[in-house]
Amino acid sequence: MKAIRIHEFGGVEVMKLEEIVRPVPAPDEILVKLFASGINPADWVIRNGGNDILRPLLKLPLTLGWDAAGIVEETGSEVQDFKVGDEVYGVPNFPGDGSYAEYCVGKANGFVLKPETISFNEAAAVPLASLTAWTGIFEFGKLQSGQRVLIHGATGGVGSFAVQFAKAKGAYVIGVASARNLDYLKQLGADEVIDYRTQKFEEMLHDIDVVFDAAPHRDNNERLRSVKVLKEGGILVSVNIDFPFNDDVLEALAEKKAKGEQVAVQVRNSWLQEIAQLIDEGKVKIFINKVFPLEQVAEAHLESESWHVRGKLVLEIRKEHDKA
Ligand SMILES: NC(=O)c1ccc[n+]([C@@H]2O[C@H](COP(=O)([O-])OP(=O)(O)OC[C@H]3O[C@@H](n4cnc5c(N)ncnc54)[C@H](OP(=O)(O)O)[C@@H]3O)[C@@H](O)[C@H]2O)c1
Repeated sequence: MKAIRIHEFGGVEVMKLEEIVRPVPAPDEILVKLFASGINPADWVIRNGGNDILRPLLKLPLTLGWDAAGIVEETGSEVQDFKVGDEVYGVPNFPGDGSYAEYCVGKANGFVLKPETISFNEAAAVPLASLTAWTGIFEFGKLQSGQRVLIHGATGGVGSFAVQFAKAKGAYVIGVASARNLDYLKQLGADEVIDYRTQKFEEMLHDIDVVFDAAPHRDNNERLRSVKVLKEGGILVSVNIDFPFNDDVLEALAEKKAKGEQVAVQVRNSWLQEIAQLIDEGKVKIFINKVFPLEQVAEAHLESESWHVRGKLVLEIRKEHDKA
């Protein structure tokens, strides 16, 4: 099968399109015939050698990509929940061999049936970014209906889901993005939008219940601005786990009796199922910025590395009409 592999860490040139042996599922895994793979910043962070958290987990050579949509080709001997031919989406074993390939294996409990109303390309854009948003705003942010949430990075992969999930939950959503994305942010359902380049959110807001920080900057001064707008007892959630809160942030949180959470994505099939339902009910839409063929993975990575993607980037591995 074809796969995009790396044998060394480095720039886009280390990614090679290779012919390799199809993986075999372990007893608790499924083999998925892939139609599409989502692209996430983690892909090129790993391509570059990872960060302090990921580096010890990486083994070369490696097939990149951890967002899969496709059809179950084979099931491991212990797998009960899927049968051959099921259309699924989910997360292959992270950070083992991934989904920039014609086939991948993954733990069966990292997959569910894909939403029925969307294409494989759209489905591949969902798992990691949406689960990161879900983990952050609900599991750690404890966001409730009627609460006010401020979302940084609100128009990126993670942020676009966070805005829509928070709205679906009945929260009041304030989204932060650059000027060119403010209309898109309203389209996502944000109640208020703030341009981070020309407006100072800390002078406009107060008593916010939850701040969900999914912006790419690793900057504790930015976090201090977020703590300023929290209500007493509020929660600051950051997804940038590779960049710890410093003492200033911890002190500012303590003064407010507020909580600070640094969050790694959790892959739970019950959440993937709820997300699929929200998508099929039309409450959450998938916004794909661009679809690339497998051969153009380098262009896709360079675009992701800009940190200014609106919605998601996807690698198309097979055409939808190849299902038959
Ligand atoms: N902990 C985890 O498990 C986990 C999982 C996934 C992602 N992450 C992290 O989550 C963050 C977002 O990931 P993503 O996939 O959503 O990235 P993404 O799709 O590239 O989105 C980045 C967004 O950030 C905004 N942005 C860029 N520069 C900014 C700035 N200076 N100030 C404020 N916003 C800015 C961009 O909006 P504009 O174009 O409008 O500037 C863009 O929409 C990354 O830091 C990533 O490493 C963590």
